[in-house]
Amino acid sequence: MKLFKLFLLLILTSCSSDEKGNEGYSDVYNLPLIPYNYSNPNFPNTFTPYVFSFDNTPSNNTITDDVVTLGRVLFYDKNMSSNNTTSCASCHKQEFGFSDDASKSIGFDGVQTFRNTMGFANVGFYGAENFFWDHRAANLEDQVLIPIQDEVEMGMTLNELVEKIGTLAYYNPLFENAFGNIQVTNDRISKALSQFIRSIYSYNSKYDEGIEITNDIFVYFPNFTAEENLGKDIFNGKLTPNAIGTCITCHLPNNVPLHFNQPIPDNANQIIFSGAEPDNIGLDIDLNVEDNGVGELVGVISLYGHFKTPSLRNIALTGPYMHDGRLSTLEEVVEHYSTKVLDHPYLSAHMKNGAGEPRHLNLSPEESAGLVAFLKTLTDYDLISDEKFSDPFID
Ligand code: HEC
Ligand code: HEC
Repeated sequence: MKLFKLFLLLILTSCSSDEKGNEGYSDVYNLPLIPYNYSNPNFPNTFTPYVFSFDNTPSNNTITDDVVTLGRVLFYDKNMSSNNTTSCASCHKQEFGFSDDASKSIGFDGVQTFRNTMGFANVGFYGAENFFWDHRAANLEDQVLIPIQDEVEMGMTLNELVEKIGTLAYYNPLFENAFGNIQVTNDRISKALSQFIRSIYSYNSKYDEGIEITNDIFVYFPNFTAEENLGKDIFNGKLTPNAIGTCITCHLPNNVPLHFNQPIPDNANQIIFSGAEPDNIGLDIDLNVEDNGVGELVGVISLYGHFKTPSLRNIALTGPYMHDGRLSTLEEVVEHYSTKVLDHPYLSAHMKNGAGEPRHLNLSPEESAGLVAFLKTLTDYDLISDEKFSDPFID
């Protein structure tokens, strides 16, 4: 093994190191000679300073093009799992908004994951990071190492991982470009994977176009159909006083809990559609279920049945829905909020009406269709076909 490494080192040092080449490995992966631009995206004016106030990038892990390039290769590399069958992208598929079309994904050993795979976009602006359905990872740098060590997902120890990646010669130029030398460490792998995920910005949906034109989420979007505009009004609570109980209350424009009578900040916009706080939306009637989410993890009974409020970016692509993938379509999701919310003992307050009962929006068929049409405007087709986030491996 040592000899093998020495041999690789010799090959590496014999090619000129000042040309940023990965081209020596052009039979392994297809990467541009000059890395793609990840660090300086062309943000539209919807990414206001207010949005940037939620930026969760740590100061020691700001995005550079070379580190993201390494992260992209790691993300798509099946060698990241113990039996070389499963990469992050096996479950987080670009075409599905980095989610999976199965209600539960299949791990390296053919076993189903415990929960539904989450998609991602604009994760860098999840102010309170709280990753996973039960909020168990406090930041992205920690989060990205967890699936690798998960016994269902990828089944590796970090020591095994570092050792294995260190033997794969095609990583040498990538680590060299990213960090100045070829040394593989947990910390570098974590930084590269988290930078890759943070670099996945979404701002080219029909909805974004509407904000660009109007600069106000509450007005009629001229690029929307009447149906989509109706759905937007329902989503934003325009048809209910103070937006309480409607979608925007929890799938927030800005990750700040919205309280009664508290106006949405003027310059807020819907970059993430996720919420800082977990909620119980009445999917189950009691605690007698396999998965009680945040409450079970932290041992707080009133948080039983509470789960992360997921981002709705690219939501039309990320089904099946909910923490266990129990709902197949957006129509079923809307039906849930319209008529099916159950009276769980710890149902979130925002899901109740004035009498303390589960709130049913009781939408008409037109309103339900409008809400679904609105949710579909959140799809960013440029993102899901953007080569710079695609699989770089040549198989
Ligand atoms: C076998 C399928 C599978 C693989 C492989 C996998 N994931 Fe996941 N991922 C999931 C599931 C399932 C969840 C939700 C788990 C939960 O909440 O308990 C998830 C959640 C996440 C989240 C949380 C998103 C959020 O909004 O909270 C991130 C980020 C993520 N994965 C990144 C990765 C990275 C990086 C890799 C590779 C190192 C990876 N995943 C490998 C299935 C997978
Ligand atoms: C009380 C807060 C709250 C309100 C109000 C709310 N949601 Fe949710 N939403 C959540 C939570 C929490 C989940 C995840 C629930 C789970 O899996 O247990 C969720 C899940 C979803 C999902 C599935 C996401 C996925 O990735 O699986 C969609 C779609 C959705 N909500 C849309 C809406 C719409 C449309 C409305 C308005 C009719 C709405 N939500 C109102 C908190 C809320």
